[in-house]
Amino acid sequence: VTRRSFTWDVEYIMWAPDCQQSVMIGINGKFPGPTITANAGDLIRVEVTNSLHTEGLVIHWHGIKQIGTPWADGTASISQCPINSGENFTYEFVADKPGTFFYHGHFGMQRAAGLYGSLIVNGMDRQKEPFAGEYNGELSMLLSDWYHENVYAQSAGLDGKDKHWQWVGEPQTILINGRGQFGCSLGITRDRRACDRRKKDALCQEGDKSERCELIRRSECGPFCEGSQCSPVVFDVEPGKTYRLRIASTTSLSALNVQIQGHKLTVVEADGNFVEPFVVDDIDIYSGESYSVLLKADQRPSSYWISVGVRGRRPKTQPALAILKYTNSKPDSWPAGMPPETPAWDNVTRSKEFTYRIKAREKTARPPTTVDRRLTMLNTQNMFKGHIKWAINHVTLSLPATPYLGAYFYGIEAIAFDSSTESPDTYDRTYDIQKPPDGQAPAAKVPTTVSDRVFKIAHGAVVDVVLQNANALEAGVSESHPWHLHGHDFWVLGYGDGVYEHGRDSKALNTESPPLRNTVVLFPHGWTVLRYVADNPGVWAFHCHIEPHLHLGMGVIFAEGMEKLRELNVPREAITCGEAKTATLPLAPAM
Ligand code: C2O
Ligand code: CU
Repeated sequence: VTRRSFTWDVEYIMWAPDCQQSVMIGINGKFPGPTITANAGDLIRVEVTNSLHTEGLVIHWHGIKQIGTPWADGTASISQCPINSGENFTYEFVADKPGTFFYHGHFGMQRAAGLYGSLIVNGMDRQKEPFAGEYNGELSMLLSDWYHENVYAQSAGLDGKDKHWQWVGEPQTILINGRGQFGCSLGITRDRRACDRRKKDALCQEGDKSERCELIRRSECGPFCEGSQCSPVVFDVEPGKTYRLRIASTTSLSALNVQIQGHKLTVVEADGNFVEPFVVDDIDIYSGESYSVLLKADQRPSSYWISVGVRGRRPKTQPALAILKYTNSKPDSWPAGMPPETPAWDNVTRSKEFTYRIKAREKTARPPTTVDRRLTMLNTQNMFKGHIKWAINHVTLSLPATPYLGAYFYGIEAIAFDSSTESPDTYDRTYDIQKPPDGQAPAAKVPTTVSDRVFKIAHGAVVDVVLQNANALEAGVSESHPWHLHGHDFWVLGYGDGVYEHGRDSKALNTESPPLRNTVVLFPHGWTVLRYVADNPGVWAFHCHIEPHLHLGMGVIFAEGMEKLRELNVPREAITCGEAKTATLPLAPAM
């Protein structure tokens, strides 16, 4: 096997992703982190040094299944202990299949602090990949959103009580490959001369190199400044050629829409799985998802806007811009006209239409037809002792100090977390999903509990999960949630509005061509059904990929195939912290 080795130093850096200076978490001095490119079957080895002075860290490889290496999944309190400040840890795992992936921090809100990068896996034999003959080159876009308030303030607000509870709000900037333009109105960015004039007129004299003036210059006309960290990304394309454009989203909050002026997009991949190709003007992408689209450079030689705007929430954030530039266009040509406008944020029908079109490509594996376990998960927003939380079947997730994987490995579940009961398999059907929790009939007013308990899933079980959305605390409001599963792909069997009724709705599920994915959206007041095979022993998170929602407890834990755990080679340093350090080392099996 080919081994791909990387050495990463993770540290705080001063960076201006959107023309405004901020503290971010960078890797090897840069943001975003380095792109990892590998072939399917390669062994990826990343030696991570934690140079953050005041916090631990872990890195999760989003979309990689970690077959046989659940300890390398990079989830704090779940698969490993956080890597302490000043210490290092080596992740080693196989890139199990080709696809468009990314990696990110999975401790606290470190993803929102900028700890992420792209992870691209090519087919073992690239020419044999589906669609390989249909494109000449590749382009890649990692999307994210950025807040000027740092993540410590954000999480303190989310953890606050009563009047101290504070929502993070909408991000200030959308980033494309780590770049966005804050406070640079389009009028300035479109007209270079106006921009230069503005720069001169700015409150500073020419030649004044003070920090204040540099900042003004950057924020007035950032996109044009030479070497600016926030200038729009330019994608060069040769006329007549077709490109595979990889798009992944690691936003903290935003659902996004991607459009390229004057160009159609053919969707061919979703979350590392090839899909039946379909042509669209734009795509919707939720946090945790990835797509590949084929893009043909078949327009007049020129430059074109790529515009990425917010959907699903009333946007208070300007669309991010990048440029698609034909190599035979004039050297300094700037896109003509306005960037394409993002579809109305509240047009959910349009989002559903796009999502429902995604079907498995012909040769994709079909799901097993017998199901061993069915879990129905009611998603609610609740008040809990003065805190606003998200809960699944009225349980809001809090993570234990001892990683679950270590607790099981050393047999100390009883002291490490609440292992006396399992998470509930379903919810009370008298609950009215159209009403806020306080508007429920007395019998359905189940109190919220905060817990670190798990679902124990037997090795090899076929599991169906029904995600059932409900009304939030505010009347008439229900949000979209992108749910992401670690350690597996799942088949998306269907979506619907209202309450899922087994028997009635199960008959209409798509078992013929359900797409395989690792992230799926749950639409407002609706349901989503997925199926997966529990064939990968490990402790896996299944959660809403919206960072503040996960922070507020919107997730569950699958302890899967724990009876097989001893057969795995788990490095001790991954799972010794908390109770495991002292309570169990004498019992540790020979490794
Ligand atoms: Cu990309 Cu558990 O997350
Ligand atoms: Cu959510």
